[in-house]
Amino acid sequence: MKSLTMMSMKYRKNVVYNGVMTYPKRLAILGRQPELGTIELESLLGPQNITPFGTNAIFFDGEVDIDRLGGVIKVGSVIYVGPVKALADIELPFTTFAEGSGKTTFGLSYYGMQVTPRFVLAAGLELKKELKAFGPVRMVAPTTGTELTAAQLLHNQVLTEGFELLVVGSGREMVVAVTTGVQDIESYAARDHGRPARDAKVGMLPPKLAQILINTTSAALIVDPFCGTGVVLQEALLSGRAAIGYDLASEMVQASETNLNWLDGRSSVQLPDWAVSAFDARKVVLPTTPLAIVSEGYLGPNMSNAPNQQLLADLDFATSQLYRETLQNWATQLPAATELALCIPNWRTASGWQSPKVLDDLVDLGYTTKVFKHAPRVIRYARPDQIVGRQLLFLTRT
Ligand SMILES: C[S@@+](CC[C@H](N)C(=O)[O-])C[C@H]1O[C@@H](n2cnc3c(N)ncnc32)[C@H](O)[C@@H]1O
Repeated sequence: MKSLTMMSMKYRKNVVYNGVMTYPKRLAILGRQPELGTIELESLLGPQNITPFGTNAIFFDGEVDIDRLGGVIKVGSVIYVGPVKALADIELPFTTFAEGSGKTTFGLSYYGMQVTPRFVLAAGLELKKELKAFGPVRMVAPTTGTELTAAQLLHNQVLTEGFELLVVGSGREMVVAVTTGVQDIESYAARDHGRPARDAKVGMLPPKLAQILINTTSAALIVDPFCGTGVVLQEALLSGRAAIGYDLASEMVQASETNLNWLDGRSSVQLPDWAVSAFDARKVVLPTTPLAIVSEGYLGPNMSNAPNQQLLADLDFATSQLYRETLQNWATQLPAATELALCIPNWRTASGWQSPKVLDDLVDLGYTTKVFKHAPRVIRYARPDQIVGRQLLFLTRT
């Protein structure tokens, strides 16, 4: 394997961001909904240790394991921060990268800059010319757009046999970073589509979203009172937390058990303790040890057309009642400061998203809504064509 040494790199030190003198070393490229990666990095590292750059990237200080982040697609080491420039005008760290045998593979990804795929290709070819001085070199260009996907990086061994440069723009400022980690798409596929017990009817939570929710909490025990097929429990165990799940439907309890036994069987390390049992979330007796509740609650029927006023009113009534009773039950048992990260349904209507009315009662029910410094107050997770979306609620027992 070849190594990319950084002998000749020059950082521009003491850059001013948001009025604060910083020395950014690490950069995260955020996923399709940047606010999701933002809230997990803010939760894990602290709001003072992250600085958003443009719409799709964040500078951060501290260590993160990209395999444990659901909302971050790449991380890199920063080698340039400053005015927008051509790559040829930036001193890049490729003094000794071409040592060893065989070709060095490299690629370029541009984020948040007004550039065309043609421009990226031309910049890559320019760089390739320079790199040839150090040995044989192969370039991988984005198949669509201006960014290399995780699959392209993986299948072309870009990170193991070479390097990727991330070029990120925001206004007149530009950052260049060398990618040090990328999302493990194969592991996600196995943890999502590879599980033995799946149920399309309950609308399984994507593992990435489960990770994001879990990352906003810090307790050693994660409880999911609407566990379904157990995606939250699975991701909790993989992040080193113990997990307890409940579900009203015994077949869902069975599905979670099957999936967690499967996970146990394929895990190379001993998983933390877990248990699943049948319970109604409105009556469940929670463990008395410190815990966080992370759960995608009941979302109601899936829909392919926007609901009419009557249906909307009925859905809101039923949903609000379920969550009111559930939150009331939990509030009688949870100690102050217990963290909750929940998904509840929102419905897309002609005039925008509608949330269930129970949200107006959160304070009376004994909960405070968490506010993130670097993210909007209301966060939803929905595909552009989805009628029933998920609103993410981050609460603390008051
Ligand atoms: C949207 S699904 C959760 C899916 C789960 N996150 C997964 O990834 O498989 C909601 C689950 O809540 C369960 N449920 C509905 N009402 C409930 C209640 N009152 N108490 C506990 N579970 C309930 C359903 O059986 C269903 O499995």
